[in-house]
Amino acid sequence: MQENSEITRLKVAIIGCGRVSEKHIRAVDKLRDRLVLCALVDTNPDAPAHLLSSCRRKIKRFKEFSEGTKKYIDYKEMLRDAKPDIVAITVPSGLHFQIARDCLDAGCHLLLEKPMTMSNKTSRELYQMADNLGLRIAMGHIYRYFPIVSLLHEDMANGVFGKAGHGSVVVRWGHDDDYYKQAAWRGTWKSDGGALMNQTVHALDLMCYLMDSDALSVKGMMARRFREMEAEDTAMGVYRFGNGALCQVEGTTATFPNDHEASFFINTEKAAIRISLHKGKPSYSIVTPKGRNLAFRYLRRYIKRFGLSYLISVAKNPHYGIYSDLYHAIVSGTTPIADGRSGYVAVDMVLGFYRAVLKNTEIELPLSSEFKIEEMTKLEF
Ligand SMILES: NC(=O)c1ccc[n+]([C@@H]2O[C@H](COP(=O)([O-])OP(=O)(O)OC[C@H]3O[C@@H](n4cnc5c(N)ncnc54)[C@H](O)[C@@H]3O)[C@@H](O)[C@H]2O)c1
Repeated sequence: MQENSEITRLKVAIIGCGRVSEKHIRAVDKLRDRLVLCALVDTNPDAPAHLLSSCRRKIKRFKEFSEGTKKYIDYKEMLRDAKPDIVAITVPSGLHFQIARDCLDAGCHLLLEKPMTMSNKTSRELYQMADNLGLRIAMGHIYRYFPIVSLLHEDMANGVFGKAGHGSVVVRWGHDDDYYKQAAWRGTWKSDGGALMNQTVHALDLMCYLMDSDALSVKGMMARRFREMEAEDTAMGVYRFGNGALCQVEGTTATFPNDHEASFFINTEKAAIRISLHKGKPSYSIVTPKGRNLAFRYLRRYIKRFGLSYLISVAKNPHYGIYSDLYHAIVSGTTPIADGRSGYVAVDMVLGFYRAVLKNTEIELPLSSEFKIEEMTKLEF
């Protein structure tokens, strides 16, 4: 497939028509010159039709775009019949591995929601399998696609900021008990994990991306303070990165549901970098030792490189950035920004944290042996 000659429209199928799937549909719809929504799959037979009619009400001209979209309850039948180029996997996290493996086996590229899988071994298996087959995996690590983030990563990797000293991640993504009661898989060790595995995993991924380094070890503590769930609702810990930087992490769902916050801070020799999302509003500051804020300079550079309309689209829906990047990676033979390796590394970071809590010690990363999240059922809060 050649980009820029004649545009190839790739067929996208979405497996799992729950809460997050609408973000995928909106992104695919916005990329309708490059993507076609060929199929929706859900074991709940009413879910695809419900999702389609809800999107037809909300998205302009979506009805005509989705006229050829077929509905299935069995993803294996869909793979045989619809033969998609890309499969988006948006089912409960405990099902990611099996379905992702079957889709790769069928020759499909993946947009795989986070967390990649529930064990370090299966996550590694997926990204190696995709590599061997020449297929792409793009992870649902949305923070990598926030405006200016890719430029900050590039500058960090090129040494523009000098050495990284330390960092901090705060994810206060409050969910009430009703959220956990919505579906049986939520908040369970086997199928979801807690605040770290579900809500904080892509923030940890962002820290790796911005630091341009993987974590080497972790120490942590966890609690279940307010939520009625099996796994943790609050976690605090420290990672040591390969570049020598320490990074402190707070991840919780025990805060108020209408006060969501995700904040990132990296202290470097040449700039203090802050990215924050509070109640849906992003803010950025890149402050030099003399107190000058370079945020607008980065914004201008970002618009010059990607265009204003791309910036607006990713700011509204980062999944647009993931699909656009995955499309580009497939047609040009490159690697997506949030690739399969990033999925494995982020899962390994969370599982390392969990093991550190279980063993009450510092744990080296990457984990040297298999660790399945189910082992956490041994933990007594
Ligand atoms: N990247 C992000 O910003 C983001 C946001 C929310 C959720 N997620 C991830 O997306 C995934 C789904 O989350 P959600 O909140 O949409 O869950 P959800 O429970 O709302 O939806 C899951 C859907 O999958 C369906 N399903 C279950 N088993 C299936 C199977 N075998 N085949 C087909 N369909 C099946 C269910 O019937 C349900 O409709 C999770 O892994 C979650 O961590 C990512």
